[in-house]
Amino acid sequence: MRSKSKKLDTLLAHAGRSPETNFGIVNPPVYHASTVLHPTVAALEAAQRNRYNQVTYGRHGTPTQFALEEAVAAVEGGARAIAFCSGAASCFAAILAFVKAGDHVLVTDSVYGPVRAFCTGFLERFGVATTFYDPQIGEGIAALIQPNTRLVYLESPGSLTFEVQDVPAIVAAAKARGVRTVIDNTWAAPVYFKPLALGVDVEVISGTKYIVGHSDAMVGLAVCTAESFLPVRTAATQLGNHAAPDDCYLALRGLRSAGVRLKQHQAQGLALARWLAARPEVARVLHPALPGDPGHALWRRDFTGASGLFAIALRPGTPEAGIAAMLDGMELFGMGASWGGFESLILPVHPERLRTAVPWREGPVLRLHAGLEDIDDLVADLERGFARIKAG
Ligand SMILES: Cc1ncc(COP(=O)(O)O)c(C=O)c1O
Repeated sequence: MRSKSKKLDTLLAHAGRSPETNFGIVNPPVYHASTVLHPTVAALEAAQRNRYNQVTYGRHGTPTQFALEEAVAAVEGGARAIAFCSGAASCFAAILAFVKAGDHVLVTDSVYGPVRAFCTGFLERFGVATTFYDPQIGEGIAALIQPNTRLVYLESPGSLTFEVQDVPAIVAAAKARGVRTVIDNTWAAPVYFKPLALGVDVEVISGTKYIVGHSDAMVGLAVCTAESFLPVRTAATQLGNHAAPDDCYLALRGLRSAGVRLKQHQAQGLALARWLAARPEVARVLHPALPGDPGHALWRRDFTGASGLFAIALRPGTPEAGIAAMLDGMELFGMGASWGGFESLILPVHPERLRTAVPWREGPVLRLHAGLEDIDDLVADLERGFARIKAG
C-alpha cells in the first residue's frame, strides 16, 4: 500500500511500511549501522554507483531512514525526501545545494533565527549575499531578484510572528527568472499545507516538531521534486549528514498519529487564541486562522488547517518584571523553544532584535504552543499568569 493516490490520513498510517519484508511486523525495525559489507568487487562498485537507492554505508542511510524518507515523501507529495540529523541541518543543506560564491539569496525577514544567522554568518563568509524581504511582499519579490539571485527561501507562517506569504505569487516570480524556491513548512507539516503542489522546489521540515510529536527526538527532512533531489542529497552527503536510526524510528512512529494530534493542537490553539483575543492585557493575537489576522485570506486559500503554534503581542509598556512574574509561575505551560510536542509552551520572543527588512514594532511578544492538556486547565493557568503581571 504505497500508492500516492491515497488520501492523507491513509498515507500517514501506511506510507513507508513493508511488513511483508519484516516477518509481518507492523513497524520497520531500527537498523544500527556503520559498516556495510559487499560480497564482491562488482557488488561494491554497483553499490557505490547506486548509493542513494540502496544500503551502502551507515552515514548514507539505513532501511529505517529510507522508510521515514519514503513515508514523508508520500505524505508531502514529493518525489524523494532526505532525512537529516536536525531540522536546522535540512534548512542549511537545502540552501547550500543551490548556491556558490558570488551568488545572492532572498530570505524572508520572518525566517527562523538560526537560518538568519547561517545566512549572515556562514553564507556571507563564503561569498553568498543575502537580502531579507518583507514576508508580505507577494509578487513584489520580482523587484528584488538580481541577475545572480539563485534562491528564494520562504517560511510561512513565520514561526515567531506568523505572517502568511503569498507562496504561488513568489514561486511564479522566481520561476519566471529561473530562481529556485525552498520553504520551511514546519508549522503546518505534515498535515495542513502542501507547498510542492504549489511549485516550490524543496520543502524543509523540522521533524523534531509535529512529526516526532513527543519532544524526545531530533530529525530534519527535505522533501524534493525529482529535479531538486540530487543537489540536496549531494549537499547532505558532502556535509557529512547522518540521521540517527532511533530518531528516524521515533519520527516514523510519530507520523502515524500526526493527523489526529494536529486536529487537537488546532482546536486547542484556536480556543486559546480566541480567549486571549478578549483579554485586556493582549494588544493582538498573531494567529492566521483568526478572521481579523492580516494573513487570514491567504491562509484560507492555501492551508487546510492550523497547528497549535501562535503568538500574542502584549500591550506596549507591559512591565518586564510583570512578564517575568507571569512566566516564572506557570504551572502547565513550560518555557522552552522546541515546540510540536504534547505539552503546552510559552516563551518570550524578540522579533524586534532580528528584523532588518521591516522593523518590528509590536509587543512584548509571547509565543505559545497549545498542547494536548485539558483546555480549562490551560486557560486557568494563563488567567493566574495575567494576574501576576498586575501584581508584578
Ligand atoms: C520553523 C523552524 N524551522 C526549523 C527549526 C529547526 O529545527 P531543529 O530544532 O529540528 O533543528 C525550528 C526549530 O525550532 C523551527 O521552529
